[in-house]
Amino acid sequence: MKIGIDQMAFATTDKYIDLRELARVRGDEPDKYTIGIGQDQQAVVPPTQDIVTLGAAAADKLLTPDIRERISTVIVATESGIDNSKASAIYVKHLLGLSDFVRTVELKEACYSATAGLQFARGLVALNPQELVLVIAADIARYGLATPGEVTQGAGAVAMLVSQNPHILALEPTTVSLTKDIMDFWRPLYATEARVDGKYSTNVYIDFFKQTLARYQQLTGRRLADFAAVLFHLPFTKMGKKALEAVLQERQDEVAQRLRAALTASQVYSRRVGNLYTGSLYLGLMSYLQNGSAQAGDRLALFSYGSGAEGEFYTGILQPGFATHLSAVPTDLAQRHQVTIAEYEQDFQQQLGMNPADVSFDVTKDPAKFVLAGQKDHQRIYQCR
Ligand code: HMG
Repeated sequence: MKIGIDQMAFATTDKYIDLRELARVRGDEPDKYTIGIGQDQQAVVPPTQDIVTLGAAAADKLLTPDIRERISTVIVATESGIDNSKASAIYVKHLLGLSDFVRTVELKEACYSATAGLQFARGLVALNPQELVLVIAADIARYGLATPGEVTQGAGAVAMLVSQNPHILALEPTTVSLTKDIMDFWRPLYATEARVDGKYSTNVYIDFFKQTLARYQQLTGRRLADFAAVLFHLPFTKMGKKALEAVLQERQDEVAQRLRAALTASQVYSRRVGNLYTGSLYLGLMSYLQNGSAQAGDRLALFSYGSGAEGEFYTGILQPGFATHLSAVPTDLAQRHQVTIAEYEQDFQQQLGMNPADVSFDVTKDPAKFVLAGQKDHQRIYQCR
């Protein structure tokens, strides 16, 4: 039985900043941000958005009356959780108006957990082929104003339905996971911004990619030539290039050129949104499918990396008609408006974060269907409009 990703949709906020402008304000060379890091724009998060509203917005695009009835499990993968106990999947399930007879859970392991969600969903469908599992990867990447990580912030969500006979990507059985206790990036419970050892994290990422790829090759006998594309977790788009070049090593043959072209196609959306943390790999997949030369029957390789650290290398086969089962990301990006660096800084500081007080946000300026209206008695108040 084929099991895999049946449908995919993306959502982000309605605001962004231009990173050349951020570079000028921070006193950096704009080329450092756009070429050295590989980012052009960055999603700006108003206080009326969080991972629940972003996740619900992405998933809402997938819901027909039939799908709404059939969803059996909701998994929200995130490292930007809003509660230390209650799963954000419960809030999302409520906002989407799904049946009470569903299973809901939240998963965490930095930028890796959406991949765990997909693999767990695959297991559920293998046990019971009638299961239709909604996996949502939603995150807000926050490093802090004027920090080295600032240029790699971002926000958004990717929602995926996992089922038998999928329309987009049938997952292949061999996957390689690798876990080591490493302090490259983490966020203590009392912090709203990540702690990061930036350069170290990029080296660990490359090392995990090389190790998981080598083991996958050992187990399957496959070579780089067997992949139409290798898709990467993209904390910033240059990271994918660093990892790919670490294994291509100056190769200029047809396979190397194909993988480089595929990487460029996978980076288009991330360049304009920034790091989605656990959703980044899957936004990269959508970007490749909408901007690359993907064809049904192609074998795609995916490298998932979450700091801390865990990596997974796995593959899937692209299914006929895949293009009609993806939401139109360019439409979302075209509907955004640019804000100044001062406005971005104000939004950054107004996030609810760890604030225990009652708060009421002005939701009239946020056009999203799902908004965070505030907090009362330590409970977040969401609206579906
Ligand atoms: P930095 O110190 O600001 O930047 O930190 P830099 O000085 O290393 O410069 C960056 C690049 O720009 C360099 O290129 C420069 O040469 C180049 P590279 O050597 O890397 O190829 N550059 C220029 N290029 C053109 N024109 C110029 C110019 N000037 C310099 N004028 C860093 C950069 C990425 C470390 C920082 O932004 C950071 O700490 N980011 C956050 C950490 C991160 O994203 N790590 C990635 C791997 S870990 C991961 O993926 C997991 C993660 O997503 C979290 C999770 O799992 O939850 C982060």
